[in-house]
Amino acid sequence: MFYTTIFVIVPPFFLWRKKMKTEHLLEFVNVSMAFDDRQLFQNFNLTVDSNEVVGLTGQSGSGKSTLLRIAVDLVTPQSGEVYALDRPVKDWDPRELRRNVILVLQESQMFPNTVRDNLTWGLKIHGESIDDEALLKILEEVQLSSLDLDDDAFNLSGGEKQRIAIARAMMMNPKALLLDEPTAALDTESAIAVEEVLDELIKTHQIGILIVTHNVEQARRFTSRVVDIHAGSG
Ligand SMILES: Nc1ncnc2c1ncn2[C@@H]1O[C@H](COP(=O)(O)OP(=O)(O)OP(=O)(O)O)[C@@H](O)[C@H]1O
Ligand SMILES: [Mg+2]
Repeated sequence: MFYTTIFVIVPPFFLWRKKMKTEHLLEFVNVSMAFDDRQLFQNFNLTVDSNEVVGLTGQSGSGKSTLLRIAVDLVTPQSGEVYALDRPVKDWDPRELRRNVILVLQESQMFPNTVRDNLTWGLKIHGESIDDEALLKILEEVQLSSLDLDDDAFNLSGGEKQRIAIARAMMMNPKALLLDEPTAALDTESAIAVEEVLDELIKTHQIGILIVTHNVEQARRFTSRVVDIHAGSG
């Protein structure tokens, strides 16, 4: 009886230890996607780890935005496995998943009304509150200290809105950001300002980033490696 118990308990413990050592923020394993009869990509493999910026490229309509939506379980792939922090995305509570892995879009919409409302938006959904001191700190991190928390978010420039969207995401203390062409609507100067902010956030918070970009210069400047969605692996 004693030996039977040991045998049953010990192997799963070793398997668990082995798995913990190889934790990835995101992992796509042989992921394929089609809408109706149109195949977008097949057997796509990729891992994203902490402190890493992975660029995702591919022609228009190849399924890059769809892949990001798959990562936060907004879309179910045709086949394959997707993991966030080593757990299948299907096994997560969707709200918890989207708190750890946050999708930021090309032109981020601001919520009514103020900068403060935007920064506290996600926390309010989770029933949490936060003081202004922490909000001012995150504004500083995204290089928007010049803003007042009571400023109307709708009046901000495109680049400022993107940085508020990133700050809004960071308030949730995520492990990974999925950025869908976050600077495509910005001029080069504003795009570089956003990249600098993201670089600092990686250093401070050890997040990992998967960024869709068509911009070769941005990929060269900002990413650790670039994966083409059709190349299938990274
Ligand atoms: N919910 C959906 N139902 C049916 N087709 C969809 C759906 N979502 C996306 N598609 C189609 O899937 C294809 C891939 O879309 P997706 O937005 O992922 O491409 P993309 O690589 O991000 O393109 P772009 O570079 O232009 O942003 C497109 O042809 C799109 O019309
Ligand atoms: Mg897209």
